[in-house]
Amino acid sequence: EGKKLWGGRFSTPIDPLLEKLNRSIDLDKRLYKEDIQGSKMYAESLKVIGMLTDYECKQIIKGLDKVKEEWDSDKFDIKSSDEDIHTANERRLKELIGEPATKLHVGRSRNDQVITDMKLWMRSSITELSSNLRSLVKTLVTRADREIDVKMPGYTHLQRAQPVRWSHYLLSYAWTLKNDHDSITNLLDKLGASPLGSGALAGNPFPIDREALAHKLGFNSVTKNSMQAVGDRDFCAEFLFYSSMIGIHLSRLAEDLILYSTKEFGFVTISESHSTGSSLMPQKRNPDSLELIRGIGGSLTGQCCGFLTVLKGTPSTYNKDLQCDKEAVFSSYDKLMSIVQLSEGTVRTLHLNSEKCEAALSTDMLATDLAYYLVRKGVAFRDAHGLAGKVVAAAEQNAVDIDKLELEDLKSISCFFDAGVMKIWNYENSLEQYQATGGTSRKCVLEQIMELEAWLRHH
Ligand code: ARG
Repeated sequence: EGKKLWGGRFSTPIDPLLEKLNRSIDLDKRLYKEDIQGSKMYAESLKVIGMLTDYECKQIIKGLDKVKEEWDSDKFDIKSSDEDIHTANERRLKELIGEPATKLHVGRSRNDQVITDMKLWMRSSITELSSNLRSLVKTLVTRADREIDVKMPGYTHLQRAQPVRWSHYLLSYAWTLKNDHDSITNLLDKLGASPLGSGALAGNPFPIDREALAHKLGFNSVTKNSMQAVGDRDFCAEFLFYSSMIGIHLSRLAEDLILYSTKEFGFVTISESHSTGSSLMPQKRNPDSLELIRGIGGSLTGQCCGFLTVLKGTPSTYNKDLQCDKEAVFSSYDKLMSIVQLSEGTVRTLHLNSEKCEAALSTDMLATDLAYYLVRKGVAFRDAHGLAGKVVAAAEQNAVDIDKLELEDLKSISCFFDAGVMKIWNYENSLEQYQATGGTSRKCVLEQIMELEAWLRHH
């Protein structure tokens, strides 16, 4: 115990508070696999250029496998002197194999090591995350397909606007989340360049083959400037940005569903498995799952802003500030995974009260259709809009629904109204006129479902 890896020039022990803050092992032990993988491949590279003998390299690899086994089986004994995952693994390797372990770090720095580990970790985590996003999209598409007949009010400004299909509404989120999925998987390209071989900042002074090393670790290229490489946390920032974007989208979905689940709306009932009760009011059934999604969605944005602020003031290359990437990235990832999964479960199990959705429609939401009716008779849209507005006002004045006005009343507003106007007071007709791509007609909704299903098959 005790002596720091970097302790050669020091004689006074580190201040305990600094030691505590500096220590990142509790968070970055999560990188143990990637760290060991990187070290094994680095050892191979050293062997190729004669800086490790065959025997030493074998010992190192065997030792590292043993260290990994200890982590895998939860038997790795973290010592109080272990500063981070890199020093912990090296310390343990030396205990296990002795001398050869002390040769592994030549030419390498924790600066290129940590970012290699982070990129490797992020690659597999994005794959995991995107598969969960895909499941959520699938659940939305499946419901949309099943419930395509259900009509509901569509809102703008949260005011009743035009009738839409419930499926059309659900698919609006399916598309959003599909785009999120595509954005976050595009990040994989940015993770393609290996920083290993950048050293502390100036590069690697030994003739290691960085390209071969990169390929062995599953990268497809190498970073081109060692100073850029060790100071680069853009991929973390981007990951945090997309995470907060997804958090925002899930939060908006949650907010809709919370509203739709109130007695006042009553469009949906959140399943018992995804609600909770009140300790005081026996009748309560609260949409806690959705509220947590909305709340946690907010904290993701906080983490993104926080980390951007960390980056802003740092001078070039590596500074310890960058160690803050772990907390931001890992905790965002965990939060995001949990709300993506919770959203999936909540959406999958919620009950749709289709009668309530349809009962919420009212004929004033067809005023636009009335204007279109006049347009189809040759009236210019601005005039038609004004005339339909007069119809709305007349209905209000007579305190009747717009569809209950007499044909005579309508005719006194415009001579273009005739008995055919009755066809306007039909919600299905209203929906079905939206035949242009992206509209709420059955045909267009089915097209969306087909397209999304094709996407699901390929992802
Ligand atoms: N634990 C450090 C981090 O996560 C590793 C790099 C440390 N490098 C250094 N020069 N102190 O950023």
